Amino acid sequence: MGLPVLSAIFRSRVVCQRGFVAILNCPKHMKASVSLFSHSAGRCTQTCQALIYRKHGDPSGVVELEDVPVHQTGAKEVLVKLLASPINPSDINMIQGTYSILPDLPAIGGNEGVAQVIEVGSQVKSLKAGDWVIPRDAGLGTWRTEAVLAEDDVISVPNDIPLLSAATLGVNPCTAIRMLSDFEDLKPGDSVIQNAANSGVGQAVIQIAAARGINTINVIRDRPDFTQLSDRLKAMGASHVIKEESLRRPEMKELFKTCSKPKLALNGVGGKSATELLRHLQVGGSMVTYGGMSKQPVTIPVSALIFKDVKVRGFWVTQWKKDHTHNGKAFRAMLDELCSLIQQGKLTAPACTEVRIQDYKKALDAAMQPFSSRKQVLIM
Ligand SMILES: NC(=O)c1ccc[n+]([C@@H]2O[C@H](COP(=O)([O-])OP(=O)(O)OC[C@H]3O[C@@H](n4cnc5c(N)ncnc54)[C@H](OP(=O)(O)O)[C@@H]3O)[C@@H](O)[C@H]2O)c1
Repeated sequence: MGLPVLSAIFRSRVVCQRGFVAILNCPKHMKASVSLFSHSAGRCTQTCQALIYRKHGDPSGVVELEDVPVHQTGAKEVLVKLLASPINPSDINMIQGTYSILPDLPAIGGNEGVAQVIEVGSQVKSLKAGDWVIPRDAGLGTWRTEAVLAEDDVISVPNDIPLLSAATLGVNPCTAIRMLSDFEDLKPGDSVIQNAANSGVGQAVIQIAAARGINTINVIRDRPDFTQLSDRLKAMGASHVIKEESLRRPEMKELFKTCSKPKLALNGVGGKSATELLRHLQVGGSMVTYGGMSKQPVTIPVSALIFKDVKVRGFWVTQWKKDHTHNGKAFRAMLDELCSLIQQGKLTAPACTEVRIQDYKKALDAAMQPFSSRKQVLIM
């Protein structure tokens, strides 16, 4: 098995069991140095650069750019060159040590991105040199310039879609399309309300909903450039863009004269914001929580449960991918639908700032700034 041991250890805990083999193969005396990354002596032919953390903490303080070995490509493996990889909130939380799944340390950061296949092993059937691929699951450690990966770890995407769309396809648009598809039977003319509407997930929700004729009521935090951001979200297809404070105000009654009450609420924030979303749901509607950016718990008014019988659900795309590992067709169909929207110009990447991997500290700091409205994407 030619996976770098760092990746293999990570995957042992986060993604699959094959990594345990690598752990058992590791010499017991390995120390926490780059040599730790070599697990099959003699197979390493070259090095690449990777953003590694050896302890949890403030990302720009604990992440370092280091040289790590790249092993020869095995029969069922592919050598890929990473092209671009975003910095998502879950990547930050993993480095801080606060996410629900954590790799063993040291670990390479990043769970999403797009790579180009450079070389394929003799038994690889589904991929060829030149293909673009994205990870099938979390835990690959995508903040690096090259990697040798198992064929099954990645899935191809068309290489004629914009680079930033491909780099940000595997997490947020997948989350958005699943939440719009799997919880309520939404028809054209129905409405969805969401907070964090300017997030990567939120922007994908706006665009996929618009393509399906579904109205979106989009809640964002107030900011000096509110009008500019609101205009940008409306240009993407947002039906309404409102400030958090407006959720409790009479103007909501005016809004619902032109737009049906939402069947579905999407909550990426928690706290008061989530409670306010619930107040506007239709009787019997669903609120799906997928993020907790405010770090506040969700409080559900008793009246929403008794008199409106709302359904309170959660969604985690990592679990969805695990649940569909054995049904590759569902994942393929979802990616095909998303890529078709991209090719039709109906789904664009969120506003991104492209940063060279060498400038990762700047990118990590920027990714943690509130009100930035831009996703940091590392360009390898
Ligand atoms: N469950 C899943 O499967 C899944 C999948 C993807 C993402 N997620 C989660 O979804 C969330 C958004 O991810 P993303 O990649 O779309 O994020 P992103 O593009 O980095 O955007 C972050 C969003 O969070 C908002 N925000 C940050 N702190 C906030 C606070 N204290 N109160 C209210 N809003 C706040 C930001 O608003 P401002 O512009 O006002 O700062 C922005 O809209 C994260 O929690 C992420 O972990 C979950």
